[in-house]
Amino acid sequence: MGLPTAQGKEAGRVPLPLTNRQDTWWIRPLVTVLVLGTFVLYATWRGLENQFYEIGPYLSPFYSPLLPIKLNIAGWPISPAIYIILFPLSFRLTCYYYRLAYYRAFFWDPPACAVQEPAARKHYTGERQFPFILQNIHRFAFYIAVIFIFILAYDAIRAFFFDGQFGVAVGSLIFLINIVLLALYTFSCHSFRHLIGGRINCYSCTLRNRTRYSIWQRVSHLNERHGLFAWASLIAVGLTDLYVRLVASGAIHDVRFF
Ligand code: FES
Repeated sequence: MGLPTAQGKEAGRVPLPLTNRQDTWWIRPLVTVLVLGTFVLYATWRGLENQFYEIGPYLSPFYSPLLPIKLNIAGWPISPAIYIILFPLSFRLTCYYYRLAYYRAFFWDPPACAVQEPAARKHYTGERQFPFILQNIHRFAFYIAVIFIFILAYDAIRAFFFDGQFGVAVGSLIFLINIVLLALYTFSCHSFRHLIGGRINCYSCTLRNRTRYSIWQRVSHLNERHGLFAWASLIAVGLTDLYVRLVASGAIHDVRFF
């Protein structure tokens, strides 16, 4: 399938973006803009709100770990979320899957397969120059993300203890689902897959390599669903924070099962 010609574009006969595709290719970038845009706006507002982030055993994932740093700028207290936001943000922002999604949806670079970019670019440097060369920190962002998995797992366990007593409430289950989805997203990462199974010439030669191969197979299985885990965990983090906010602000009551 060929793209419309430049002459056709100049004559005004071909609508932008240039494509011959007849399917609903635009739905995917549109949904990405809506979901990712909503999340970024909500997370920014919540990070700056600096209240309603803790109630009982629940601590919002946007504010975890809660660092005891209290600074003011011109009389305005800095939200504790600001100190940690960079770490999960750098992991998501440099994720190979999200890069595909937001390059297409926000930069139209290109918007989809077989859809021409709206503006011709003079110099294409890929991810070899600033700022996109920073995408190469993904492996390091992954290491930090693993630390956050342990921190958020601790928060999820804490969500099952009310005044020192084990219990289960709606909030406990939300925290549990959140950490499971976050762990699936983190450990289905392409960098982790390479870390486990990459740079080996012979999988069957040693017991260590055979073990790595077996783990690599499982990680590959998860990796096939990385996009799904990326969206599910993003939504889960947002909803977990929203639940904490609603309970902490008194808008709703947490329902305790036992
Ligand atoms: Fe998506 Fe690593 S590739 S988190």
